[in-house]
Amino acid sequence: MLSVKQVSKIYEGKVAHRALTDINLTIEAGEFVGIMGPSGSGKTTLLNMIATIDDPTTGEILINGENPHSLKKDRLAEFRRRELGFVFQDFNLLHTLTVEENIVLPLTLDGKAVSEMKTKVKEIAETLGITAILNKRTYEISGGQAQRASVARAIIHSPMLLLADEPTGNLDSKSSKDVMQMLQEINLEKQTTMMLVTHDPQAASYCNRVVFIRDGKFYSEIHRGDNRQAFFQKILDTLSLLGGDGHDLSQIRI
Ligand SMILES: Nc1ncnc2c1ncn2[C@@H]1O[C@H](COP(=O)(O)OP(=O)(O)OP(=O)(O)O)[C@@H](O)[C@H]1O
Ligand SMILES: [Mg+2]
Repeated sequence: MLSVKQVSKIYEGKVAHRALTDINLTIEAGEFVGIMGPSGSGKTTLLNMIATIDDPTTGEILINGENPHSLKKDRLAEFRRRELGFVFQDFNLLHTLTVEENIVLPLTLDGKAVSEMKTKVKEIAETLGITAILNKRTYEISGGQAQRASVARAIIHSPMLLLADEPTGNLDSKSSKDVMQMLQEINLEKQTTMMLVTHDPQAASYCNRVVFIRDGKFYSEIHRGDNRQAFFQKILDTLSLLGGDGHDLSQIRI
């Protein structure tokens, strides 16, 4: 479903900066993949290129066999709107709108009928437990509620790929757990393919697989299996190796 082939990214500027080197990554339909790595390792850069917000310097990204980067501007905008969903650390909700208006935004942009939008928003709000706050403005709700609203907005148009950058970064541990459980449920029920960038090992433990990058390069990946607690421990172990120096590399278990 998603295929990242030999992708490198160099940010040009006064001093050119190499953010990613030869990244290869394949994600199957319905997978829930976490991306971890130290600050500055290139996680957001990778996500932004998959989100078609930014272009790779070399290499290729295919989503369902198609290279969105080669689409014309209008088609690209449509592709992004229909096929992708985004969740960000700072929620990215529009403050002049109510929660409901924020959630239906992707449908509004696509010219869907009001009755269809009403039905969908009701259904999703119930799943995410935000029915009671639909008419509130975004400054009247908590961070956890705001993030659930932004998850609702990201999935209301049933995107094939949901991309999330630190969605739990501004949440306390209870809200963070709620949001991750909801993402997991959506992934299981709707088979939405998901890619999540996170620093939080607890959040990452909800993924099926976690890919680690360091200094812009692939470092290792681990799979969950059926025990989330054991997976959490493995994530912690890998992170401690990741932060360590060179000779620790020999000890990685994959
Ligand atoms: N627009 C840009 N222009 C130049 N350099 C950039 C740009 N965006 C990111 N970088 C650099 O590329 C590297 C990777 O940045 P990126 O934002 O992908 O890291 P990250 O892994 O998401 O970090 P964090 O965990 O702190 O969010 C960093 O060294 C950063 O300074
Ligand atoms: Mg980042």
